[in-house]
Amino acid sequence: MSRIKIFDTTLRDGEQSPGVNLNQLEKLEIAKQLERFGVDRMEAGFPASSKGDFQAVKAIADTIKNTSVTALARTVKSDVDTAWEALKGAEHPSIHLFLATSPIHMTYKLKKTPEQVMNTAVEMVTYAKTKFHNVQWSAEDASRSDLDFLAQIIERVINAGATVINLPDTVGYTTPAEYGRMFQYIKETVPNIDQAHLSCHCHNDLGMAVANSLAAVENGATQIEGTINGIGERAGNASLEEIAVALKVRSDFYPYTTGLQLEETKRTSDLVAKLTGMYVQANKAVVGRNAFAHESGIHQDGVLKHASTYEIMTPEMVGVKANNLVLGKHSGRHAFKDKVKELGMELSEEKLKSAFDAFKQLTDHKKEVTDDDLFTILMEVQTDTTSVNKYQLEMFQVQYGTANIPTAAVVLQTPDGRTVQTACTGQGSVEAVYRTLDELISENLKLIDYQLSSVGGGKDALAESHVQLEVNGQAVNGRGTAQDVIEASANAFLNAVNRYIVRQHSQESNVVASKT
Ligand code: KIV
Ligand code: ZN
Repeated sequence: MSRIKIFDTTLRDGEQSPGVNLNQLEKLEIAKQLERFGVDRMEAGFPASSKGDFQAVKAIADTIKNTSVTALARTVKSDVDTAWEALKGAEHPSIHLFLATSPIHMTYKLKKTPEQVMNTAVEMVTYAKTKFHNVQWSAEDASRSDLDFLAQIIERVINAGATVINLPDTVGYTTPAEYGRMFQYIKETVPNIDQAHLSCHCHNDLGMAVANSLAAVENGATQIEGTINGIGERAGNASLEEIAVALKVRSDFYPYTTGLQLEETKRTSDLVAKLTGMYVQANKAVVGRNAFAHESGIHQDGVLKHASTYEIMTPEMVGVKANNLVLGKHSGRHAFKDKVKELGMELSEEKLKSAFDAFKQLTDHKKEVTDDDLFTILMEVQTDTTSVNKYQLEMFQVQYGTANIPTAAVVLQTPDGRTVQTACTGQGSVEAVYRTLDELISENLKLIDYQLSSVGGGKDALAESHVQLEVNGQAVNGRGTAQDVIEASANAFLNAVNRYIVRQHSQESNVVASKT
């Protein structure tokens, strides 16, 4: 069995999903969970793209010990220097340089000849090598590149010191057989290819990202890139949890191992969904709510007689547990602390106290507090940023009945410390609250998406709401939890506005304005 390296790009390519905007604390929590999941490399961001990204990459690089931390950089010196500044504190730093090689990209985007592209790639890999031991070079849009040119440039960048060569299907255009043939060709044609790892990186525009990645591995790729839950640009990236489980369940067909701890799969997926606001569909392979649910009578009967009739893997394999009761009204601080540790979270004393208070408040209304509830509370507390003044909900009241017009009254504290209040009506309670908030908040707001779900089951379950707003024309996600659905909805709305404010604050000193 040969070992395949797993390269996670949830925090870089995944974070490029429309509307996703993680703050530094959220990125750090995801990074810690990726380390627990056992990925070999994590791409923490693109430090030259903004001051916020730089700081997040640096914080991750300074924290993560067992996983190589990498960052994206264009083939320009200043990007390499910025990446080094962000990553130099990492235990295992590496850099990810990219430059497009397809005729379409070279002609229309880069406006460079193939020779210029070749020279720039070689020059920048050589430069990056003066700082980083591990240098990955990506031939952006490789799947639409000329194979002979690709072979030549790969040979040259390996000679310049590249340790990993990545061949992305940037636009999600290729098919498994075609992508596999590209890897086979490169393996057979490039004379020094055994001096570097070959990596695959697939986008899911035609729904083939996972199949394409597995085809690459069958044809010589030793590293797979992807994201948790398949999030990413447009239709997203290859879903790492699907690849991991496919390799495990079909180890008879794929003779490869990974370093992943599969029992951490569900938790990793849940965390990414919660913090990005990008929920997975119920029928999503491996981590969807229905992935292990057998509905038809014939299937249920078969599973009862022998699980293998319709079950190719168990929920336990990926860490799906029946919701166990954890703590209740009478649980004390000590038991709470132990449980936090068991959930793999590290909180400062101050945050632990806030989380305990929130837990106690919940037990006033909810008899049975589950792992999911606790995880939600801990995440809220752990990822809350307090450094910037924001809007705070002081009080709200809603009057609703089938015979009257829903009316909401809200009292808010503004970022500059004023207390403001007003009341509005709406077609429903949530609309009434949202119209009132809109009236009180001095930004230009437009609600794009609204979702409401429960954390776990039961009549007294916590409500969790996700919204996407356009704030002054910029898409921003927000989330909120509460025992009451309207309060959760109000919290999500305010959370989105506050994230916009924090983002504006951190963008004031951007290094470079745009992402890739
Ligand atoms: O899809 C792509 O080509 C990328 C590169 C930056 C590697 O994400
Ligand atoms: Zn990509």
